[in-house]
Amino acid sequence: MTANIDWSKLGFEYLQTACHLTAEYHDGKWGELVSQEQPMMPLHIAAQCLHYGQACFEGLKAFTQPDGSVGIFRPEENSRRMARSAERLVMAPVPEPMFLEACRKLIELNREFVPPRGYKASFYIRPVLLGTTPVIGVKGAKDFLFLAIGMPMGSYYREGFKPVKAMIHCKYDRAAPLGVGSAKVAGNYAAGLLADAHAKKAGFPVSLYLDSQHHRYIDEFATSNFIAITRDGKFVTPDSATILPSITNKSLQQLAVDMGLTVERRRVDVAELSEFAEVGACGTAVVVTPVESIRHGDQ
Ligand SMILES: Cc1ncc(COP(=O)(O)O)c(C=O)c1O
Repeated sequence: MTANIDWSKLGFEYLQTACHLTAEYHDGKWGELVSQEQPMMPLHIAAQCLHYGQACFEGLKAFTQPDGSVGIFRPEENSRRMARSAERLVMAPVPEPMFLEACRKLIELNREFVPPRGYKASFYIRPVLLGTTPVIGVKGAKDFLFLAIGMPMGSYYREGFKPVKAMIHCKYDRAAPLGVGSAKVAGNYAAGLLADAHAKKAGFPVSLYLDSQHHRYIDEFATSNFIAITRDGKFVTPDSATILPSITNKSLQQLAVDMGLTVERRRVDVAELSEFAEVGACGTAVVVTPVESIRHGDQ
């Protein structure tokens, strides 16, 4: 059975499916995964995540395979990254078997929402981890909620898979040098909303951040890593402690090596931008989006 969805018109929007999954952590132990049909949930008004931001998440995709089965793209990598985010925010990590089982079960229970092949669409899985203990002073939660929600997705940018214009922010930083830039924590995205709004208003759908210490080296785009191809065919991507280690980027680097390209993970000076043959933004959501131009100040 398939849901009554026009697979060719999917964007990157929330869409209600049959159910999501939850698991609760209390007294030092994770409970069972439970399927929930209602998208609303009870949460204490003083829940840690609402006030002090103990919240991290992941994003991964599943695709219908030629034999009709559904394959999830490298879920172990997302599980490990979520565990690192949890550790950075002093949260109970979700055990990998539970994370993987949640992805598998979510697909099984929402099978009719998995796009068929041929539509450049996928089933997007969004695992979320929240600190739920009621607190009023600043302290970490002892209770946690794991959510696994998912929905069919098309392309991230309204333009589809066409080249996009990016803007480098001079007035806003994404991540502090010893901060949480390498973790997928909710606060990073809230902190970027104002910069994004300015960029979009100026006609740039994509924001690019420099390192916040020197404002000289390229860090990453708001929701994706920076990759470039040099004129002599090398694959270049920033080596920075303040960017999210992208699983798409890691996979592309392996493909580049397999194709015989030299991969350079290093500091990328913003002055080098004009010398690259191609620049792209890569990530689960944006896939590999070619970047048409990059505005930096008045250049
Ligand atoms: C800030 C940021 N950088 C990079 C990425 C790309 O990571 P991945 O390829 O694992 O989706 C994402 C998306 O998850 C992101 O939000």
